[in-house]
Amino acid sequence: MTRTAVEQDTGMEDWITLEGVTFVRNRKTILDRIQWKITPGTHWTLIGPNGSGKTTLLQLLAGYLWPTSGDITVLGEKFGHTDLRELRKKIGWVGSFLQAQIPPSQNPLDLVVSGKFASIGIFESPSQDDYAQAREWIQRLECPQVLPFAYGVLSQGEKQRLLIARALIHRPQLLILDEPCAGLDLKAREQLLQTLENLGRTPQAPTMIFVTHHLEEILPVFSHAFLIKAGKCVASGRKSNSLTGEMLSKTFEVPMEVHEEEGRLWSRVRFR
Ligand SMILES: Nc1ncnc2c1ncn2[C@@H]1O[C@H](COP(=O)(O)OP(=O)(O)OP(=O)(O)O)[C@@H](O)[C@H]1O
Ligand SMILES: [Mg+2]
Repeated sequence: MTRTAVEQDTGMEDWITLEGVTFVRNRKTILDRIQWKITPGTHWTLIGPNGSGKTTLLQLLAGYLWPTSGDITVLGEKFGHTDLRELRKKIGWVGSFLQAQIPPSQNPLDLVVSGKFASIGIFESPSQDDYAQAREWIQRLECPQVLPFAYGVLSQGEKQRLLIARALIHRPQLLILDEPCAGLDLKAREQLLQTLENLGRTPQAPTMIFVTHHLEEILPVFSHAFLIKAGKCVASGRKSNSLTGEMLSKTFEVPMEVHEEEGRLWSRVRFR
């Protein structure tokens, strides 16, 4: 039997913890007794096959779904004892779950400003300063050319950059990145990864959780990994212990090799 690597950091406050979290829908157990502890100053990658439960897990963390059983604490706030709407304002989200909710007619500037209010669409009155900040973030993400157009007509990469600007404008304490590189060209992908690497190294960095299917996208700032298969944790802890050929092979049910080059991991499926 292969070993399961579950490593728990100890001795730090409850920043983000999941204890025995199970999520059942339509009699299907999508997440099964998940244990996860994220301490301040660590950044995580979340890896697993299609349908293994990654997006569901992130939706639970952001308070969009409620667990069937188990306890969740996010940013020191225990669910059930906290105002989730307020908590969500401290969480930035980039990913297809959010993208699907944006009306095609949405104006890019309003979309980025809406990040301030953790809403899709604007239901409060943004200030001139809010709009100035939105323009600044759109500049930083190098997509000012999209400003005159509706969200629906933009390219995948342009949409992704706007969503990142939207997530960063309110300086979140937790930044959830659910396949943020999907649809980006090679240069745009490297720029985004470098932005995340730099962001993660700033003193006020948000805790980042990054989902990808490509190991080479995991930059050194991501110190830890959580591997999930069919709703169950396979490995959790420092990358050097969890992101190994053995654990990836177990997670994806194919023999995999991993090697490191200039701080990045590259994987290969070993066909026999
Ligand atoms: N309401 C629901 N009812 C039934 N099954 C559901 C429901 N919501 C999600 N699922 C199932 O839960 C599983 C996990 O879905 P999830 O989107 O979390 O996977 P994922 O790991 O993010 O996959 P991907 O890599 O493809 O994005 C899938 O099999 C999905 O079909
Ligand atoms: Mg997903």
